[in-house]
Amino acid sequence: MVKPVNAQTGREYVRNYPDSTLHVTLVAPETVRVLVVPRGANANFPRVPLVLPQPTTRDAFKLRVSKSNIDLQTSRLRLHIHNDAPAVDFYDAAGKPLSLDSGGAATVEGQQRDTRSIAPDEEFFGFGLQFHSLAQRGKTKTLKVNADPKDDKGNSHAVVPFFLSTAGYGIYLDSHAYTYFDMGQTAADSLYFQTPDPVLDYYFCYGPTFHDLLARYTQLTGRMRMPPKWGLGFWYRMKSDWKQDKVEATAREFRTRNIPCDVVGLEPKWQTHAYSCSYIWNKDQYPDPAGFVGRMRGQHYHVNLWEHAYVHPSSPIYDELEKANAVADKKVWGGLVPDWTKPEAAAIFARLHEQEHLKLGVDGYKLDECDGSDYTGGWFFPDDTHFPSGLSGAQMHNVFGYLYQKRFHEMFERRNQRSYLLCRGMFAGAQAYPTVIYSDWYGFEQYVRAAANSGFSGVLWCPEVRQTANEQEFIRRFETVFFSPLAMINAWADGVTPWEKGPEVERIFRLYAGLRMQLMPYLYSAFWQMHETGLPVVRALVMDWPHDRNTYAVDDEFMFGPSILVAPIISGTTRSIYLPTGQWTNWWTGETITGGRRINYEATPDRLPLFVRVGSIIPMQPVMSYVGEKPVDTLTLRVFPSQEPFSSVVYDDDGTTLNYVQGQNVRIHSAGAPTSKGISLSMSAPQGNYRPEWNHVQWEVQGMGIIPRRVLLGRSVLKPLASDAENAVRGYTYDATTHLLRIVVPFGKAQTIHIIS
Ligand code: GAL
Repeated sequence: MVKPVNAQTGREYVRNYPDSTLHVTLVAPETVRVLVVPRGANANFPRVPLVLPQPTTRDAFKLRVSKSNIDLQTSRLRLHIHNDAPAVDFYDAAGKPLSLDSGGAATVEGQQRDTRSIAPDEEFFGFGLQFHSLAQRGKTKTLKVNADPKDDKGNSHAVVPFFLSTAGYGIYLDSHAYTYFDMGQTAADSLYFQTPDPVLDYYFCYGPTFHDLLARYTQLTGRMRMPPKWGLGFWYRMKSDWKQDKVEATAREFRTRNIPCDVVGLEPKWQTHAYSCSYIWNKDQYPDPAGFVGRMRGQHYHVNLWEHAYVHPSSPIYDELEKANAVADKKVWGGLVPDWTKPEAAAIFARLHEQEHLKLGVDGYKLDECDGSDYTGGWFFPDDTHFPSGLSGAQMHNVFGYLYQKRFHEMFERRNQRSYLLCRGMFAGAQAYPTVIYSDWYGFEQYVRAAANSGFSGVLWCPEVRQTANEQEFIRRFETVFFSPLAMINAWADGVTPWEKGPEVERIFRLYAGLRMQLMPYLYSAFWQMHETGLPVVRALVMDWPHDRNTYAVDDEFMFGPSILVAPIISGTTRSIYLPTGQWTNWWTGETITGGRRINYEATPDRLPLFVRVGSIIPMQPVMSYVGEKPVDTLTLRVFPSQEPFSSVVYDDDGTTLNYVQGQNVRIHSAGAPTSKGISLSMSAPQGNYRPEWNHVQWEVQGMGIIPRRVLLGRSVLKPLASDAENAVRGYTYDATTHLLRIVVPFGKAQTIHIIS
């Protein structure tokens, strides 16, 4: 038997094998790092750290040595370390196998590989923003950032070497090289993953739920910072060749037509040179940049500029970047390629952007073309590029976009300012930043599948809208984009507007833009939950119903926040919708139906199928032309009561600064429960240091079959109000047609309402 060289009862276990050394580290009770260093390998090869420093866990390995195994036990896991090879088996605390190593880590054809067994009923999800499939068992994935993937081989704008298993665990392979995963294709009962890095470095996470797994993964690689509230409003990207006057007129038109809009985006031609970039205003298009941005801000628009990272010789930072030794030895579109790992590169960019744009009031960017493209060629630096930090092109490839947007967030954060960025190339770690991936290149079906897939790694995806084959598709697509992290029309090429297709399309557009605005507190609170726990705002059904096997194949529906199921109709007017176990209320009709089955659904073009999970409280606000147009005097809580107790949290803060990190925020817990006489609703006193705008709360209880006999606030009886009582501050109304009970009470103190039927 080979003797362990450094067996400790602490958090590290190290053991030598003939060909390698195994390091097993307890990161958290449910998270274990496995590092296998082949003999003679350089473990300090250049790479970008993606795992954050972790708090020291109080848990420790308990070591048991038997004849056949070394047994390491934590409060949540049991590990068996093999004697004959660097192999680690994982069991839960009760001894149930989670993932067993079949053979041990080894160097195969120059790559570091680990092979693990698959249980017969196990299914896998993950790998980032996949467009072609949801469930991954039996598939292979090569994880390379790439624009417009044409097949199901893994490459995408955002690849993430993290997968989740329905057996209750997840594995994050900590490598930003081009990694490869075989999820049971070669052998049905085993999977393997491998990296060209000199070492094999992976993190095993125990859930057991998918929500837990996202919490573990984001604990390792980062949790979402809060986006600015304005970023969650509607975005319109102007046609690239429109000049200043036309852009301003179009922005005004949103206001005069009463269509909510918060952000306008300018496309390549705002610059003197775009491929590669000068970052300097093109005076032919924008003769007066400061005046232009000032007027847009005056109309309460946020201005977002398109750019990419390749620096044209005419740019004022060209020479500076070269002198600072902060660029690669190869160019893209004749432009310098910054080495984002070098602080000098970031500082030089930040100085120019501050001076040219931020000072004027620009507060966001669309960071394009950082994903390369195998299909066009020449749109990216090649693998043999050399970066001054020591990374090769191949090592930089996957993290280039990730680092680019990270540097830009840092630029805003130094101003105590949040931004919501667009960026087309991302990797693990991207889920820590309010940056949204986009591309106008996909069919509707792929857009929706990517939305479902995005949640497995917590990246944000915008199924943006441009000109479509027909009007119906335009409508269906924009309805869907309003239920995504970023609602945008990208008219850069065609100048399509919400009104050019006539009053009916415009009406529907206004309806959905308004609904998005009404749902702002709901969406913002869902982002806060993501910030707190890693739970993605948009996610596949299987994330919430992992035990319902029917959800494994559902790639054309997704959850938008904790309560709303979105099932876009891809074409025509009908579709089959899977509703997971539980009760569901049709958002539009109020009808409640039982899930755990498929239903056939028919909807006119203006109705995006939306179902609310019964037992939900959805915080809402009035429609506004832009975020913050008016103070929100009344917080609306739309209640979809269930037979079980239910609850939710509303979150708020100033929406623009980083002060929330220091506790300038507020949480309100609301809950409901059936009682012997009816329903009780309760709300906590606000918790936190931020004072929200609300003075009143309006509870809107859905599905009240009959008028209540009494409504009590604490012990005091509330009075019925006239049904048209608009500005009432206390009392209730009941609408016998819609079965909606509306209760208005003051906001601020803990309160309980009893509805007695
Ligand atoms: C593309 C991008 C489009 C648009 C265009 C401008 O790469 O995906 O949204 O910005 O560049 O040239």
